[in-house]
Amino acid sequence: MVVSSALSLLSLPLLLYVFTNVCNSKNVSFEYLRLPLLHKTPFPSPSQLLSRDTHRLSVLHGRRAVKSPVVSGASTGSGQYFVDLHLGTPSQRFLLVADTGSDLVWVRCSACKNCTSHSSGSAFLARHSTTFSPYHCYDSACRLVPHPKPNPCNHTRLHSPCRYEYSYADGSTTSGFFSRETTTLNTSSGKAAKLRSMAFGCGFRKSGPSLSGPSFNGADGVMGLGRRPISFSSQLGRRFGNKFSYCLMDYTIAPPPTSYLMIGGSSKTPRMSFTPLQTNPLAPTFYYIGVEGVSVGGVKLPINPSVWSVDESGNGGTIVDSGTTLTFLPEPAYRLILAAFKRRVKIPSAAVPTPGFDLCVNVSDVSRPSLPRLSFRLVGNSVFSPPPRNYFIETAERVKCLAIQPVNSEKGFSVIGNLMQQGFLLEFDNDRSRLGFSRRGCAVP
Ligand SMILES: *[C@@H]1O[C@H](CO)[C@@H](O)[C@H](O)[C@H]1NC(C)=O
Ligand SMILES: *[C@@H]1O[C@H](CO)[C@@H](O)[C@H](O)[C@H]1NC(C)=O
Ligand SMILES: *[C@@H]1O[C@H](CO)[C@@H](O)[C@H](O)[C@H]1NC(C)=O
Ligand SMILES: *[C@@H]1O[C@H](CO)[C@@H](O)[C@H](O)[C@H]1NC(C)=O
Ligand SMILES: *[C@@H]1O[C@H](CO)[C@@H](O)[C@H](O)[C@H]1NC(C)=O
Repeated sequence: MVVSSALSLLSLPLLLYVFTNVCNSKNVSFEYLRLPLLHKTPFPSPSQLLSRDTHRLSVLHGRRAVKSPVVSGASTGSGQYFVDLHLGTPSQRFLLVADTGSDLVWVRCSACKNCTSHSSGSAFLARHSTTFSPYHCYDSACRLVPHPKPNPCNHTRLHSPCRYEYSYADGSTTSGFFSRETTTLNTSSGKAAKLRSMAFGCGFRKSGPSLSGPSFNGADGVMGLGRRPISFSSQLGRRFGNKFSYCLMDYTIAPPPTSYLMIGGSSKTPRMSFTPLQTNPLAPTFYYIGVEGVSVGGVKLPINPSVWSVDESGNGGTIVDSGTTLTFLPEPAYRLILAAFKRRVKIPSAAVPTPGFDLCVNVSDVSRPSLPRLSFRLVGNSVFSPPPRNYFIETAERVKCLAIQPVNSEKGFSVIGNLMQQGFLLEFDNDRSRLGFSRRGCAVP
């Protein structure tokens, strides 16, 4: 089951916690990894729910697109990328983690009746909105979310809200009322569009390392962009077109540049490469891509292709996840990649390696460190070849470490995290079931 497989990534929050302390003790302003990132797991509900699309959204497909800025959370110590969401009438503004590895859109909520948004922190004040409405627990939309156990639902009562409890792979959970609300969006033509009845989680509780304390710095909730019907992209896709794109800009650039999450529309990006999106019925949330091979410094590594495949139990495979910072690869592949880097990197190793990383180099005496290039050969005859700064990160002053982690469990799966995606325009096209990527698309407005 994917639920347990995702738990194989559990070591990460611990690792990053240690890592943060290391950084703090040296006063290095390198805060972007402070967050034990969201390692999401799709909830195990029957896949037939996929077709039970009960939200009252327009099915009109226009040529317009929705456009929201995507900003790095580095300045608040987060390894996440955030997107704005304007919710309610009158609208209240929130910053949500943009997450292609989960489906639910949720915002921290307050039942506060007569208070300023200041006194409630940045929580959605449901009672201050004239358009807020929780789904009834007997409403068919309620079947799209996982419920707490026991789930108090009284069919005969007029007000028996749909309760949800949504879990991420590190055990973090959010719970509250699955609701609908009006959201205001900017379209690419510069007009505001209102989308009534967007389904979202009004979150009254959150717990776990990914969602609490400094680890969730700056975020008011999560914008799930996964493949199931409750995700933001699926809900908006019915109106604007079933695809979305984003470009995650390099977090080390200060001030962090803004890029956009685009939903719908057609991309005019030149020279885009494509790889088919693959599906795993046991984890319908995720955007899987097929990796065929890896090379380091132009040399193809002898990795058994079977390490990349999804098995009959739904384990394995490679997902593209904006909500995970580092990249995770199957242990056998990782070992060969690490060995290849160790052979080819001509820069001296750091005297003090950063805990949790297997390869750290000291670039003190190297003005323009040259590091070997990592390339992924993908199904569909395309090659994803990110620049070294996407997988060598500065963990201390003048120390760069290989930011790839092994997936040790047999039940694990590989994750192409958000660092690895930096500087590429990625287009998730659900209609054509393909992922497009281009290094030239980020500047396209
Ligand atoms: C580290 O930062 C803290 C607080 O910002 C400061 O009090 C301390 O003096 C700094 N230590 C060093 C070695 O710079
Ligand atoms: C808050 O409540 C007081 C009385 O209870 C009322 O006079 C005031 O208008 C309310 N403020 C808002 C913003 O609803
Ligand atoms: C459900 O609600 C009705 C009406 O409020 C009440 O009479 C009934 O006892 C409730 N049933 C349960 C199981 O709580
Ligand atoms: C739309 O864009 C304008 C200008 O960039 C911005 O001020 C406004 O907050 C945006 N509105 C929404 C709903 O995103
Ligand atoms: C890196 O190298 C410099 C000079 O060669 C040295 O002073 C420094 O301590 C080294 N740092 C680490 C972490 O290895």
